[in-house]
Amino acid sequence: MGGESSFAGSSGPPPSVAPVPFEVRRTTSETPDTVTLELRPKGGAAATRFRPGQFNMLYAFGVGEAAISISGDPEEPGGYRHTVRVAGRVSQALAEATPGGVVGVRGPYGTPWPLEEAVDRDVVIVAGGLGLPPLRPLLYELLRQRPRFGRLELIYGARTPKDLVFYDEIQHWRTRNDLRFQTTVDTAGRDWYGDVGLVTARLPDARFEPSKTVAFLCGPEIMMKLTAEALLARGVPPTAIWLSMERNMKCAVGLCGHCQFGPAFVCRDGPVFRYSDVARYLAIREL
Ligand SMILES: Cc1cc2nc3c(=O)[nH]c(=O)nc-3n(C[C@H](O)[C@H](O)[C@H](O)COP(=O)(O)OP(=O)(O)OC[C@H]3O[C@@H](n4cnc5c(N)ncnc54)[C@H](O)[C@@H]3O)c2cc1C
Ligand code: FES
Repeated sequence: MGGESSFAGSSGPPPSVAPVPFEVRRTTSETPDTVTLELRPKGGAAATRFRPGQFNMLYAFGVGEAAISISGDPEEPGGYRHTVRVAGRVSQALAEATPGGVVGVRGPYGTPWPLEEAVDRDVVIVAGGLGLPPLRPLLYELLRQRPRFGRLELIYGARTPKDLVFYDEIQHWRTRNDLRFQTTVDTAGRDWYGDVGLVTARLPDARFEPSKTVAFLCGPEIMMKLTAEALLARGVPPTAIWLSMERNMKCAVGLCGHCQFGPAFVCRDGPVFRYSDVARYLAIREL
């Protein structure tokens, strides 16, 4: 691909813009400020299937809506899992939902992680903080289809050990011999025996053949920018690096312009973008 952008946008008909009521089946506290919600459509209807990397607009009735990535397994029938960190009023109300409660859902929206780009290639996944939930559906898919891909490296960084989400699942992933999983934190006490430092400091330990590698990044924008630059320095082509962007959203269907990112709208053309298409806009705060 050359220097021109090639935003593909989502394919298929747009999903409904009216929120559909979903029942909260279960909640799991991940960290002191982050909760995973398991949602099922009320009345036994089927939830629209999603692809790894997509998000839903979750509506806390009487409070408002927020874009939240789908963090569960695309093959899990019946509903969605969402992992919500408290940032303001809507996320607070969602995080306080209890089993039996009702949340409005519209979606799924957005572009997926391009799994097919990873076939016969080494795969490097780098997640920072709440960047792991949008990558977890991709990881499930990669592990389910494991023989199709080369080496699989995952680097996950959080601020402190108590900010690590999916803690039990991480312990399971670490025991697999077909996935190398490195975890690092910015700061830790004496009870932490793992790595301390930025995710970029773990990259030199990752085993991959740069010219035949695909990388998937999600986390704070500055973390994705520095990680992409470190991957480029190791020889990974800019067209083989993919990242997921966040911007404030309102309509989520390409109408209101709130989520503008350079010439693109994150809701319609993203959130998953090819690095070579968006590198020049990465340092720019919301326009
Ligand atoms: C595609 C996409 C996927 C997302 N996935 C998740 C997820 O899986 N889990 C999750 O907890 N959050 C996710 N977010 C972020 C989430 O949408 C916002 O944190 C949420 O809208 C905050 O709403 P609020 O009313 O609670 O906070 P507000 O009161 O609206 O905002 C609180 C603070 O967060 C800032 N803010 C609000 N929205 C965003 C945003 N999108 N990006 C950066 N800063 C923002 C505001 O400027 C303010 O400083 C995602 C956002 C996008 C665009
Ligand atoms: S949120 Fe309205 S255009 Fe993207």
